[in-house]
Amino acid sequence: MILPLKNKVAFITGASRGIGQACAIVLARAGAHCIISARTQGGLIQTDDQIKSQGGTATLLPMDLGGYEAEHIDLIGPSIASQFNRLDIFIHAAFQYTPLTPVSQITDAAWDKNIQANLSSCRRLIRTLSPLLCATNNAQAIFLQTIASTQAFCAPIAIIQAAVSAILQCWQQEVAHLSNVTIQHVLPSPTNTLLRQSFFPAESKQNLNTPEQTAQEILNSFRL
Ligand SMILES: NC(=O)c1ccc[n+]([C@@H]2O[C@H](COP(=O)([O-])OP(=O)(O)OC[C@H]3O[C@@H](n4cnc5c(N)ncnc54)[C@H](OP(=O)(O)O)[C@@H]3O)[C@@H](O)[C@H]2O)c1
Repeated sequence: MILPLKNKVAFITGASRGIGQACAIVLARAGAHCIISARTQGGLIQTDDQIKSQGGTATLLPMDLGGYEAEHIDLIGPSIASQFNRLDIFIHAAFQYTPLTPVSQITDAAWDKNIQANLSSCRRLIRTLSPLLCATNNAQAIFLQTIASTQAFCAPIAIIQAAVSAILQCWQQEVAHLSNVTIQHVLPSPTNTLLRQSFFPAESKQNLNTPEQTAQEILNSFRL
């Protein structure tokens, strides 16, 4: 069987469940070695078990992107470089749940936690991964958007999305003359995951994608 991503290396955040987990499984099935990260070790082990059951390989990287260990993010790029010397695919699917709240009622603690986990982590991830992505021919960096449009109660999410979008546009322009890395900010289809259930507990699951369907849709946009 020809594996289209044989010898490629992928790093996926949010890989303990949901869309990130499904992306890791689909990428590993296509032959990529997957470095999988999230906070929950049990979830990462489940992902690893599924990857192994289809003949793939993974490296587990348990990490809280929003916690006290966030400065460890800085070590990720150099350690992937020293072990694999390439990074072909980066998918940032981690998102720490933040409650839907009227702007006037966002607490300082909720604001700080949201910024730390969902925005500062993006900057650190870009800082640590950019040199290796730029040094790898045809590398792809995919960041997942959260909402289709700005609505009432969505300010905590909307500010992250707007800021990440701006950061990605600047980053793409900064590296355009250095490498052929492609940077995308992709909105996944509505998908039956824990995050979705937390935002819309009463929603019917009937018309939602499975995480595997969404992962396939995201990965179909690759030009590897
Ligand atoms: N589901 C949808 O319909 C939908 C629609 C549009 C966009 N999206 C986007 O798709 C992405 C994935 O969402 P999902 O629905 O798959 O959510 P999910 O099932 O809740 O998965 C979120 C992932 O992020 C990880 N995570 C959360 N906080 C973290 C932290 N502080 N440090 C490290 N990892 C952390 C979680 O793992 P741990 O808890 O183990 O850390 C989990 O693996 C998100 O960006 C979301 O906004 C989803």
